[in-house]
Amino acid sequence: MNVNQEIERRRTFGIISHPDAGKTTLTEKLLLFGGAIQEAGAVKSNKIKKTATSDFMEIEKQRGISVATSVMGFGYKDKRINILDTPGHQDFAEDTYRTLTAVDSVILVIDVAKGVEAQTEKLAEVCRMRDTPIMVFINKLDREGKDAFDLLDEVEQKIGLSLCPLSWPIGMGQDFQGVYDIWSKSLKLYLGSNKQKVQESVSIDDINDPQIDELVGESAAKRLREEVELITEVYEDFDVEMYRQGLLSPVFFGSALNNFGVNELLDCFVEIAPSPQPKRAEERVVKPNEDKFSAFIFKIHANMDPNHRNRLAFAKVVSGSFERNKNYLHVRSNKKMKFSAPMTFFASKKSVVDNAYAGDIVGLPDSGNFRIGDSFTEGEQLQFKDIPSFSPEHFRFINNDDPMKAKQLNKGVDQLMDEGVAQLFTLETNGRKIIGTVGALQYEVIQYRLEHEYGAKCSYENFPCYKACWVEVHDEAQFNEFKAQKSRYLARDKFNQLVFMADSSFSLQMTKDKFPGLTFHLKSEFT
Ligand code: G4P
Repeated sequence: MNVNQEIERRRTFGIISHPDAGKTTLTEKLLLFGGAIQEAGAVKSNKIKKTATSDFMEIEKQRGISVATSVMGFGYKDKRINILDTPGHQDFAEDTYRTLTAVDSVILVIDVAKGVEAQTEKLAEVCRMRDTPIMVFINKLDREGKDAFDLLDEVEQKIGLSLCPLSWPIGMGQDFQGVYDIWSKSLKLYLGSNKQKVQESVSIDDINDPQIDELVGESAAKRLREEVELITEVYEDFDVEMYRQGLLSPVFFGSALNNFGVNELLDCFVEIAPSPQPKRAEERVVKPNEDKFSAFIFKIHANMDPNHRNRLAFAKVVSGSFERNKNYLHVRSNKKMKFSAPMTFFASKKSVVDNAYAGDIVGLPDSGNFRIGDSFTEGEQLQFKDIPSFSPEHFRFINNDDPMKAKQLNKGVDQLMDEGVAQLFTLETNGRKIIGTVGALQYEVIQYRLEHEYGAKCSYENFPCYKACWVEVHDEAQFNEFKAQKSRYLARDKFNQLVFMADSSFSLQMTKDKFPGLTFHLKSEFT
């Protein structure tokens, strides 16, 4: 197989959901059907247990275990599939947003009873910003839930997706009999009372075939026909190109726990999901099938085990192929480096890899030199875009509690920020440092790691802030007036970009009204 064929057969995607909708179960079932694992339960360690939500050391330990499952690669049919894990725990949402910069498509899991939940909306919004193709899996059909049409309306309204059902449930909960697969025009039914097993599917060319009445009963068959007719009236025909452009999302129904609907999802996925996509850089758009290698770092995982302190940087190969022991340019430092032990991920194991192709993820051992967003090339100056930081939810001043260790503290804070544990803002007026995080838990993590890894001590002080807003200037005169009036609220992020630390939603609105010549963004990239 040549390099282009290798690239073309890659499918790199993430599974996203509100916690508990069934992401872990679906991931596991995909690995099971893909033949990558032999038994259910193998990737459970991936999930941060509910009992551990207030104990950060326990969470870190579990995150440590989950390094191995950060990327799960396996072969299915003639495709090479890479599933990128997205942490479900809300405090690590930023990790998930960054992982989404490295996927070429996503599967969004929704619990049929709960519908669209807070985290579902947020994650779908991040995908829609980049027009990432989204496939929807409505899960837990073995339980009573919302009416399928109502649920699809809810998804369209709350997330703003255009949907196209490719399968349709026959009954629900106790009465769930199976699904009508619109994509392949076949009926997939449960076998009697054993919902773990799927009866051989029955192919039906015509929805009016009397076989359906015999198989599911007259009233369920009648209802199915009415619903399928309604679907054809209400929803547009499925168009693969629209899906690949992120404009139309196919929907599947099933039950991950009961292995139901998962095979159909996987079979359709490998057929329609996009191969590696081009990526924008400051300088130009980089295409996957270019001869020369390029990659960017989207995640850095630090090991909290004091005996194995090294970090692992996860790089997505954007173009060409990667080779072990070959010299590449680390663009930000302008240094050549080669990797003797790059990692690849197969199922839940990692091993040293000699070659990787566009679409793949390689794990690069790092002793503290890399930063999220860094790029590697064969010499070209490329800075990949669309890897923004989002406004944190919590803000605190960080104080040095041991004046003798100021250097260690600064180094520690810098490295932790490079890893993406939190964001650092420096106030313009007095140089005080503010740490912004998505979850309150990160403050404990930072304090612990500064002390144990860098020998520095810190404490925090509340900094009242509603949102960090990155400022885009259209009118210089207004910008100067804004700077003069709001100097107390201005800070720089670690890339030296100007940020307005709005103290309330009211003051943010007032500022927007007063300075129409400026735009306030809740993310660091806006062009
Ligand atoms: P998450 O990663 O999205 O957070 O969800 P996860 O897969 O861990 O699933 C959350 C809970 O929902 C689990 O139960 C899981 O067994 C259950 N679940 C997943 N898919 C289905 C389904 O199709 N039908 C039904 N009825 N349940 C489903 P748990 O009791 O929280 O955990 P566990 O003890 O089973 O691991």
